[in-house]
Amino acid sequence: LDNGLMRTPPMGWLAWERFRCDIDCENDPKNCISENLFRDMADRLAEDGWRELGYVYINIDDCWASKQRDSQGRLQPDPQRFPGGIAKLARYVHDRGLKLGIYGDLGTFTCMGYPGTTLDRIDTDAQTFAEWGIDMLKLDGCYSNATVQEQGYPLMSKALNATGRPIGYSCSWPAYQGGLPPKVNYTQLGQICNLWRNYGDIQDSWDSVLNIVDWFSTNQDVLQPAAGPGRWNDPDMLIIGDFGLSLDQSRAQMALWAIMAAPLFMSNDLRTLSSEARVILQNKAVISINQDQMGIQGRCLLKEKSGIEVFWRPLSNSASALVFFSRRTDMPYRYTTSLGKLNCTAGTYMVYDVFLEKLLPELNDSKDFTVSINPTGVVMWYLWPLPAPQEVRERGGVYP
Ligand code: GLA
Repeated sequence: LDNGLMRTPPMGWLAWERFRCDIDCENDPKNCISENLFRDMADRLAEDGWRELGYVYINIDDCWASKQRDSQGRLQPDPQRFPGGIAKLARYVHDRGLKLGIYGDLGTFTCMGYPGTTLDRIDTDAQTFAEWGIDMLKLDGCYSNATVQEQGYPLMSKALNATGRPIGYSCSWPAYQGGLPPKVNYTQLGQICNLWRNYGDIQDSWDSVLNIVDWFSTNQDVLQPAAGPGRWNDPDMLIIGDFGLSLDQSRAQMALWAIMAAPLFMSNDLRTLSSEARVILQNKAVISINQDQMGIQGRCLLKEKSGIEVFWRPLSNSASALVFFSRRTDMPYRYTTSLGKLNCTAGTYMVYDVFLEKLLPELNDSKDFTVSINPTGVVMWYLWPLPAPQEVRERGGVYP
């Protein structure tokens, strides 16, 4: 969507995967969906170095609303859990240099049974969000059908635009229509939405990450061209720092989401995040690959019989990112190949290992090399053909 927003994939934090629909503030005050939770996370984003790296959105998901609209038919937050109201929360978030996202659902109810946005309410709800100072809307698609979605998603895009407030627009539409043509029209989505969920919900498990990665690779010929500045495929949240992934699997999720030019919305508890998870999520090289200004989504280049897969993403300044991904479950695998076999044919390259955070010896595209890839893990490289651009040479190719 050409609204000037999200020219690189949006980054931030989203409540759903980690905090779901916990509304029991009496017994679980620290974790329930309430203004306190979002203030806590906003504090962490602002104070723990996230904001400076680009993680600026703090997004409310389902279960924020009161079960009833107000007397004028407007959505309102649950009065017990959001006593200050959303506008006040937006001010709190903006005061910290962050942006506030909210969740709605095109249909009679949200997925968890809160008031939905039927076609006749689209203008009212867009207006309400804008008046509150909302910066992004995720519009889900529970309790509606293909006909309603075909009308409603473009109408909400227009209604948000008509408010005059810049509001990033995330559409769950394709996920409700199987994610593929002919039911899904990615040209149209790129015109009306800034990002869209293509596929099912992520869960806190490696199985779930693999399932998503497989679907995106299988369908990359359709999905890859749909992405670009202002319009992104969304494989769903980062679950790094939760309970389901090992450290190698966490690096794998981060690397593959960067290759896919995916929005980077963490869904974790930033108050108790381990330092290992933080190091992965705050890795400057992987973030700069994700945020590359050309905005070309990467691809799975090859799947070896050995269970090694190679992903590649072209970057600005003739740079590239490569990910060597092991689906093996035995031991670190020594994989031998050459850059020439992997779409990198510009002679000699400067090679930066993203997770080792080290510059490796220069590598000619015709020379074989061997990488050791941990089971269910990745090796990720950032490559510049020599001579490397001035800025890269100045910082020695390293992200301090
Ligand atoms: C759907 C969405 C999820 C989340 C829930 C909330 O399942 O895909 O991302 O928003 O609804 O109920």
